Amino acid sequence: MPHITLRDVTKTYPPRSRGGEAVTAVDGVSLEIERGDVFGIIGYSGAGKSTLVRLMNGLEPVTSGSIDIDGVDIAAISPRRLRHLRQGIGMIFQRFNLLRSRTIRGNVAYPLEVARVPRAERARRVSELLEFVGLADRADAYPEQLSGGQQQRVGIARALAADPAILLADEATSALDPDTTDEVLELLSRVNRELGITIVVIAHEMDVIARIASRVAVMERGRVVESGETYDVFTRPRTDTATRFVRTVVRALPEGDALVELRKKHEGRLFTISFTDEGVSEARVFGALARAGVDFNLVHGGVDDIQGRVYGLLTIAVRGDEQAVREAIGSIGSGVTISEVTA
Ligand SMILES: Nc1ncnc2c1ncn2[C@@H]1O[C@H](COP(=O)(O)OP(=O)(O)OP(=O)(O)O)[C@@H](O)[C@H]1O
Ligand SMILES: [Mg+2]
Repeated sequence: MPHITLRDVTKTYPPRSRGGEAVTAVDGVSLEIERGDVFGIIGYSGAGKSTLVRLMNGLEPVTSGSIDIDGVDIAAISPRRLRHLRQGIGMIFQRFNLLRSRTIRGNVAYPLEVARVPRAERARRVSELLEFVGLADRADAYPEQLSGGQQQRVGIARALAADPAILLADEATSALDPDTTDEVLELLSRVNRELGITIVVIAHEMDVIARIASRVAVMERGRVVESGETYDVFTRPRTDTATRFVRTVVRALPEGDALVELRKKHEGRLFTISFTDEGVSEARVFGALARAGVDFNLVHGGVDDIQGRVYGLLTIAVRGDEQAVREAIGSIGSGVTISEVTA
């Protein structure tokens, strides 16, 4: 049974003013999120991502459709059971939402105080959590004395306090610089790997998804327009929206002015070569060309790591006589898609 199942979920907000229009923020979304998975949700601003996570943790009711967690429809349970269920769902936010007047220790202890966990156990648990996120030595500092990445790690420790089975991360790295983003994503991966927690990551940066999520759903105007394994969506996006997101990470093949520039700069015939990780590597491609004895160079693109798997999208310029170029290209072998750039 999936950990989280959404069936035809819709959320419509009533008009904000008289004569205003109702907003359908989430429109017929169906998703299955497996236990222990890291599931990414990507989309532009206003796509409905945050609304979807608020529905998932029962913070707001759905307008129609259903959300099951562990097979239980969260709309059908008593407020008391819903409160209990919500304790099993941790949440982290873009702005960290730490209490400024409390120390780091105090912030992580907060949910445990609310849950009336006895003092000694609370202290033990807080130490353990701060150790886990690597901030044991900052326990007595205040949030404003910490960097953004450290603050988000406190946010993660706090979200883990109640021992959740699910962690919802809404733009958890959007306010961070690239290095701190790495640090937080690495911690989230550990949370998933070592604690087995199911993580739902909302992002509008595709590289965040590429690094952490094994599956992804692309949202647009309240709908899921594409979903699947992250690697598949990256290597074979089917919708324009997914393609645009993918191109922010994997450089597109050159066209238009960029192509004209490349032709000016590089002599020879241009070929594009793409390959996935099924038996092909960059070394094999370049090795074959080198052995064939043609003069070549990489002019555009590269090889990306998506969920630990390679995806190559290269444009190369090859120089030599007709016969030599044909043989060199032919020698790369199967598993790659090669085409000459003729435009
Ligand atoms: N409480 C609300 N009342 C009315 N409309 C809302 C409410 N919350 C969200 N909306 C609307 O629903 C749509 C989806 O908003 P949502 O915040 O879920 O998008 P998002 O994908 O999280 O965007 P962002 O990337 O900017 O965070 C937007 O048009 C938004 O204005
Ligand atoms: Mg949002």
